[in-house]
Amino acid sequence: MKRFFYLFSTLTLLWAASCGGSDTPIYLDDSKPIEKRVEDALARMTFDEKIAMIHAQSKFSSPGVPRLGIPEVWCTDGPHGIREEVLWDEWRGAQWTNDHCMAFPALTCLAATWDTSMSAMYGKAIGEEARYRNKNVLLGPGVNIYRTPFNGRNFEYMGEDPYLASKMVVPYVQGVQKNGVASCVKHYALNNQEFKRHDVNVSLSDRALYEIYLPAFKAAVQEGGAWSIMGAYNLYQNQHCCHNKRLLVDILRDEWKFDGVVVSDWGGVEDTAEALNNGLDLEFGTWTDGLAQNSGGSDAYDNYYMANPLKQYIAEGKGDAKLVDEKVRNILRLIFRTTMDRQRPYGSFATEEHAEVSRTIAENGIVLLKNDNNVLPIAPESVKKILVVGENADYKMTKGGGSSSLKVKYEIKPLEALVALYGAEKIQYMKGYSHREKDEVESLEELRKAAAEADAVIFFGGLNKRSHQDCEGRDRQDFALPYGQDAVIEALCEANPRTAVVVISGNAVAMPWVEKANSIVQGWYLGSEAGNAFANILSGKVNPSGKLPFTYYAALEDCGAHYHGESSYPGIVDPQTPEGSLRPRYQQTYAEDIFVGYRWADKFDRKPTFPFGHGLSYTTFEYGDVTLDKDSMRKSGKIVASVEVRNTGSVYGGEIVQLYIGDDESSVERPVRELKGFAKVFLNPGESKVVEFEIDRSALSYFDAEKHDWRAEKGAFTAYVGSSSRNLHSKAHFSLK
Ligand code: BGC
Repeated sequence: MKRFFYLFSTLTLLWAASCGGSDTPIYLDDSKPIEKRVEDALARMTFDEKIAMIHAQSKFSSPGVPRLGIPEVWCTDGPHGIREEVLWDEWRGAQWTNDHCMAFPALTCLAATWDTSMSAMYGKAIGEEARYRNKNVLLGPGVNIYRTPFNGRNFEYMGEDPYLASKMVVPYVQGVQKNGVASCVKHYALNNQEFKRHDVNVSLSDRALYEIYLPAFKAAVQEGGAWSIMGAYNLYQNQHCCHNKRLLVDILRDEWKFDGVVVSDWGGVEDTAEALNNGLDLEFGTWTDGLAQNSGGSDAYDNYYMANPLKQYIAEGKGDAKLVDEKVRNILRLIFRTTMDRQRPYGSFATEEHAEVSRTIAENGIVLLKNDNNVLPIAPESVKKILVVGENADYKMTKGGGSSSLKVKYEIKPLEALVALYGAEKIQYMKGYSHREKDEVESLEELRKAAAEADAVIFFGGLNKRSHQDCEGRDRQDFALPYGQDAVIEALCEANPRTAVVVISGNAVAMPWVEKANSIVQGWYLGSEAGNAFANILSGKVNPSGKLPFTYYAALEDCGAHYHGESSYPGIVDPQTPEGSLRPRYQQTYAEDIFVGYRWADKFDRKPTFPFGHGLSYTTFEYGDVTLDKDSMRKSGKIVASVEVRNTGSVYGGEIVQLYIGDDESSVERPVRELKGFAKVFLNPGESKVVEFEIDRSALSYFDAEKHDWRAEKGAFTAYVGSSSRNLHSKAHFSLK
């Protein structure tokens, strides 16, 4: 049999060479269409070579076909910078000295810019870094929806709204892929928490699936043209998402026509038959220690579900070898699009240009939540002494958090940058609270005294990348800020009204002191340039222009996922865990259905501390009334909505103008209104611009689960324009006939 294969492939090789009329085999000839090259390469491969290609050979790579000169696939995390080189079989760093990357801001920050040009810059720059480091698959971006502020990985995602995440993910993917590096969008799908992430079986309505949880993945695939996607750890319909028929075959391949590679999450494969049949292409990370655990003395990669066990399964006549060909086709296509694209650029690494990109995105994503009495900005000439308090001022945030942890060329901490900007003589630092209980910190009395003596106070707190905070693998356990920060904040605000509270996190936190703090800033994990971005915003060198990509709930119960109790979050042990499961299963129902984030807050009129889409500026903007050009509907099938926005303050600034649509006459329950357009405009004092939005049928539709299709119903709709989901300045009515 084996001999037959070799004979066959040698003959095909000879045939290919003679037909081409040149010595270049078709698969190596880049003047030929990719699909032809794929078929040609496939025809030359032995069955063993195919099996080798569909599972890992090391922690982050899979083999190509050495005999044919087809290169290996090399993946890298993602999504905020290029991960350090690790040892062949382990998560441990390989101690290279040339892999210190540029860290870009966390994706929550990118989402908070509400600016697709920032996504394009981000994708291009991180793609260049991946390319330079010879990776052809970047494991990112992540677009799982922010369902609960407890999810330890929300900082790696793009917020609670499917429309915002869809718009932001597309340019990121395109930017990465311009470098001949595949973007691997993750974690498909319904991976909305870390608690029991391998074992939780998510149940939800088809409407919630299609309206809330799938759109960003669909946009990444269809508009972004993503060349790969990563399956999620959790289960849906009692099947792990890495080999889930409905998600991978029915939706991804059949409905969306995805032609890229489905990569498993690391250790996300649990069954050979399902892996073969249900759309997985490439298995990674199944055993944590490739050479030892479960290896029986041999190379453990041979024991991966899609290695020897799959060969045996097929040899026993249980599985169809054609499905292996399908997987290999997808992987070959990815290799031709990336490593074997001779035109692809060479990339660049940790450059000044990338630092600039990183800082610009950070500055554009920081959100000014509150600023009574113009506490901010703190102009350098207006102060003699600033008291800076909080461990997060003097703490590096690019490390930790799980797989997105980075080994960086540098990271500027907030305190360093403030000292550089204001001068060391003006800055007094007190730790105030500590990430570790054993550390000694100043008493509240000492803090109060120092605060009262300072001209201004800046508190840096929030969460960090430790376990049970913003960190992969575990969820948060408390909505409140950790380490007694609330008391410190209250003491500072009482002692000095000119106190700005900066929260660094990837999640909303409880703010029992919200009325006492005059100024509050939502900062994110901002990457290498974090400190500079903060200093520029706080000093007024840069005017803040970010807006929240998620709702800041006043109380945890105001979040739909938590309102319904444990069966909705975090899920409950399934007494009937199916036989053969490796661990007990958890069942979880997304009981809030489509009412995620502001959709829930609006439905029950729960006033959030800060609503979705909220963010202030050092200037002010005035909105005109929204007008609709209904003629455009007749001509183009789209309504054009316009609104004039003017900068009425005294400094240059950016405003994110938001369009929400409400369906006023509907046969099904719909959210009060949903985001269907946004535009970021930058204006000089006194300047105004007219912002236009196109409203098409997709903006009016809901997912009709019975018909399995999107449906825009006849009747009345309202278009709202505002500066947040709750601060709506004007509205206009129209109807669909
Ligand atoms: C994470 C992925 C990551 C992979 C490789 C997994 O644990 O869920 O997001 O890309 O590890 O590090």
